[in-house]
Amino acid sequence: MSTSDSRASVLVTRRFPDGSTQPLLDAGLQVEQWPDEQPMSRDVLLEKVGGVNGILASITERVDQELLDAAPALRVVAEYGVGYDNIDVEACTRRGVIVCNTPGVLAETTADLTWSLILTVGRRIGEAIDHVKAGQWQGWNPNVLLGQDVHHRTLGVVGLGAIGWQVARRALGFDMRVLYYSAHRHPELEAEAPVTYADLDVLLRESDFVSIHAAYTPATHHLFSTPQFKAMKPSAYLINVARGGLIDQDAVYAACRDGEIAGAALDVTDPEPMSVSDPLLRLPNVVVVPHIGSATVATRIRMGNLASDNIVAVLKGTPPPTAVN
Ligand code: DGY
Repeated sequence: MSTSDSRASVLVTRRFPDGSTQPLLDAGLQVEQWPDEQPMSRDVLLEKVGGVNGILASITERVDQELLDAAPALRVVAEYGVGYDNIDVEACTRRGVIVCNTPGVLAETTADLTWSLILTVGRRIGEAIDHVKAGQWQGWNPNVLLGQDVHHRTLGVVGLGAIGWQVARRALGFDMRVLYYSAHRHPELEAEAPVTYADLDVLLRESDFVSIHAAYTPATHHLFSTPQFKAMKPSAYLINVARGGLIDQDAVYAACRDGEIAGAALDVTDPEPMSVSDPLLRLPNVVVVPHIGSATVATRIRMGNLASDNIVAVLKGTPPPTAVN
């Protein structure tokens, strides 16, 4: 692109799936997209944001004061995702930079993944797959790989945003009792489906599956640590598809190792990626998958389209569909 090109310019920090950024191109913006599979280094990022008006970013990029100082022409940062804990929103607001995310479009897909994790730990699917691959299957056996029923049990949803709500709705198909804990009570959702608000300690005490869908903020850092695991039933499972930092990972390791809880399924860890030598990976009652909550072709394109629509709107001077500041 020539330096005399006067169109607004956008840096797309990752190689998102084809079609994701089409709205940027349709709007005639000057787009530079990082072509590699792995994210660019911090130094390259700081250099590339120099003249840009918009950034389409993901959780692998930290948008902080240092980046803002390196990007004097920046007007909008659109996160490719619903969580935006990688962005210093206050610093952006002080600088007049609009921050947007992609709520809603990934809720059902992430709820589906949550449900696959609930069933995976409850029915010991990870162990069962390893069992067959290791040549241990010696025919039907009434005592092998007995798990826990999921139907008619109690699901505790921590954080009843769009994803938590979709997880709760799916539980009704399994005839589960659903408790939820959230920063705010949701009478409108309670009217729509049988979900019951409970204090966190009640939810922990009564749930057979505890599924975390809260936003990660300084206030929710290590929301789950030793006291919360001690409060849970020894037969209960923990599922986390939100952010790794919500859980004290050393504590969940100890709780799963010592039988304080029955096991855990984690789509997110702290840090990411999790080291292959992490002791959690040695526990048979723990399942870890690599942050794939929203990972379907259709949803990833929807996320990219919404993030792009946000950028186009801001750069055209109209209200972005999903701003957070
Ligand atoms: C999200 O949408 O927050 C995903 O975790 C990817 O960032």
